[in-house]
Amino acid sequence: MNKILVTGGAGFIGSNFVHYLVANTDASVTVLDKLTYAASRESLAHLPADRVRLVVGDIADASVVDPLVAEADAVVHYAAESHNDNSLNDPSPFVTTNIVGTFTLLEAVRKHGVRFHHISTDEVYGDLELDDPQRFTEQTPYNPSSPYSSTKAGSDLLVRAWVRSFGVQATISNCSNNYGPWQHIEKFIPRQITNLIDGVRPKLYGAGLNVRDWIHADDHSSAVWTILNKGAIGETYLIGADGEVNNLDTVKLILRLMGHDENDFEHVNDRAGHDLRYAIDSTKLRTELGWKPQFQDFEAGMVNTIAWYRDNEAWWRPKKAAVEATYAAQGQ
Ligand code: NAD
Ligand code: DAU
Repeated sequence: MNKILVTGGAGFIGSNFVHYLVANTDASVTVLDKLTYAASRESLAHLPADRVRLVVGDIADASVVDPLVAEADAVVHYAAESHNDNSLNDPSPFVTTNIVGTFTLLEAVRKHGVRFHHISTDEVYGDLELDDPQRFTEQTPYNPSSPYSSTKAGSDLLVRAWVRSFGVQATISNCSNNYGPWQHIEKFIPRQITNLIDGVRPKLYGAGLNVRDWIHADDHSSAVWTILNKGAIGETYLIGADGEVNNLDTVKLILRLMGHDENDFEHVNDRAGHDLRYAIDSTKLRTELGWKPQFQDFEAGMVNTIAWYRDNEAWWRPKKAAVEATYAAQGQ
């Protein structure tokens, strides 16, 4: 696969994958990205111009999508509206981008016979009880909770139908919560780090007992590359790194690593419909395709992530006031 079209490649995880491709493969990459509030041109800066091209456009616009898909050997589809809290405020762009956008891409790969990999989330499975011994597997029934996760579930089902009905050459991956550099500061971990840099106490939704299964974005990228090359067409693979931590412990870790009393946070309004626990069983990916994560030390990863936000204030500073104003209006 020499020519890879990466949708959403100017976002947090998509740009990580573009860096992965440049560092580890010979592929030339076209990024198709609408450059929404969540995107960052800087995340693609300093990459070789003869390897990476950015096309600014909407995945729901067939006139943009069709010629780019026609020239690609594979499409890796990251573009999405990605934040649960935003989906509670205004679900509309989630339906347009996550469902209509995915439909538009599927029609193009069908027409041109191009390999497709769809990036999805563990949130399509709903949530688990804290004491449930089970984790999500590829057999877990879909049960999404939020407008965000329901539109991602809808997009997954479109992919499955296009495989079965039209023979589209597609795979799907559902990954757990990513962390690392370049993550938008609306998200949990960078929000708390940048709050502390600003002398503001971290904000914990509700009691903070909700569990997330953290994976470093670099491990997500290596997993996607593995599936793209070795995955069986029509199959779904769950991606996770055995990183379950509750939000309270994550906030305490960030406080301690940034030199504060670990109880110096505040409880704020809970998220409506807040999923309790996500947990991934990635046995299929590990045993069938031989993938394993490289960054399983959450504390070490957090040290590096904190350092990155300290060193890159110019990147996040212009976004901070607006993000916090939106949260403040919600009592969060
Ligand atoms: P992000 O919000 O950081 O980036 C999304 C990117 O998509 C942005 O660059 C944005 O400009 C682009 N985009 C949005 N709408 C578009 C449109 N209509 N046309 C073209 N580009 C558009 O998101 P992220 O956290 O990097 O997530 C990327 C993908 O990974 C999403 O599909 C998400 O569902 C999935 N995912 C995320 C996580 C996580 O923890 N962040 C975990 C599992 C799966
Ligand atoms: O599981 C994969 C999903 O992980 C992805 O599909 C989503 O795109 C991604 O945004 C993420 O969803 P979450 O809703 O889990 O992530 P978020 O960073 O918004 O919140 C993580 C947890 O922290 C969640 O339980 C809510 C809580 N939280 C969040 C914020 C912003 C807080 O307690 N305080 C906060 O300020």
